[in-house]
Amino acid sequence: MRLTLVLGTRPQIIKSAPFIHLASNDGEIRLEIIHTGQHYNYEMTKVFFEELNLPEPTANLNVGSGTHAQQTAKIMLRLEKHLQKQKPDFLIVPGDTNSTLAGALTATKLHIPVAHIEAGARSYDMKMPEEINRCLTDHCSTLLFTPTENCTKNLLKEGISKAKIRQTGDTMYDVLLQQLPKAEKIPILEQLGIEPKTYALLTAHRSENVDNLENLKNIVEAVIRLNSLTIVFPAHPRTQKQLRKARLYSKILKQKHIKLIKPLGYLETLKLMKNAKLVLTDSGGMQKEAFWLKTPCITLRETTEWPETVRLGANRLTGTDTQKIIENTAEISAKEMEINEKLKNSPNPFWNGNASQKILEAIKSFQNKPN
Ligand code: UD1
Repeated sequence: MRLTLVLGTRPQIIKSAPFIHLASNDGEIRLEIIHTGQHYNYEMTKVFFEELNLPEPTANLNVGSGTHAQQTAKIMLRLEKHLQKQKPDFLIVPGDTNSTLAGALTATKLHIPVAHIEAGARSYDMKMPEEINRCLTDHCSTLLFTPTENCTKNLLKEGISKAKIRQTGDTMYDVLLQQLPKAEKIPILEQLGIEPKTYALLTAHRSENVDNLENLKNIVEAVIRLNSLTIVFPAHPRTQKQLRKARLYSKILKQKHIKLIKPLGYLETLKLMKNAKLVLTDSGGMQKEAFWLKTPCITLRETTEWPETVRLGANRLTGTDTQKIIENTAEISAKEMEINEKLKNSPNPFWNGNASQKILEAIKSFQNKPN
């Protein structure tokens, strides 16, 4: 069976890693990995291939940065040529990026069945490019692999046939369980000169937060005021650019309690997240990772595609409201013992860490029936 996996951004590399390892070692599968080139800096892509011991992609479409239409269209044009030649039995797309949608659309038009890893996640905010990507990808997929029961319900509500859905659990949980022992050994706390549970880990890169300079200023204002905590802030290239544009970059550098650093690898991030007092983020993946690592999370958004984490008391939505961010941080500090106890005893709606295995089995046993 010939499978083509399309990825292009850092979270997609991470969440595909266990599947890539399994498929590469399966005698019945020939797997090719197509990198779209959506992410291209060393610290946005190559570092993850190295850390996770992944094979080099078969091809790189080198699309680079651009507007949504440019990026999506370039991927489609270049991928179409490739797929016409290769004619795989299945095209697999993880997550919710422009690379995900472009891959799914191109394959569907060529009548190549599409398998979507992380199907059914919904924030119900169509202003987010990721929400558009998720919905459209799900609706043209042949097999939909959902991480949670809530994701399955979301798909059923949208009229997607139950026969196409496989609730497998979350591949991000698979990779976390596999990599945590290695991550524990990474000396990133020593390198940054920080002690466990004395700092907050901050990341922000969503376009609605960082391209809107008012929102970006509100987030920065909050962490400047949270000066009783050390703030570790690995900044995505988009965020670095916007911080400079808003004249916030040098302002942050003057704050002794904020460590503004380059984007980190997966293992460094896991180690930092596990030992943080709390995580402040607008990332979808980090909300789940914080939950699994039992670190309280504040999500710098009004909505989340992972309501399970909020329901279980592990995650709070503050948007970019400076006051709310400060108040919630104070509350988490004040109720630290109580929250930690709750997190320790929390059920895990993302299943048991063998999602990638189930996904591979489902693809192998799939008989292609008309949609
Ligand atoms: C993309 C995904 C987002 C995902 C994120 C993970 C979409 C719509 N968004 O957002 O869902 O959470 O990846 O990081 O697909 N840049 C570089 N070097 C790089 C990559 C990007 O400098 O290697 C800069 C460029 O200025 C670029 C900007 O970052 O314009 C944004 O990159 P882009 O891939 O468009 O979106 P992300 O914000 O990374």
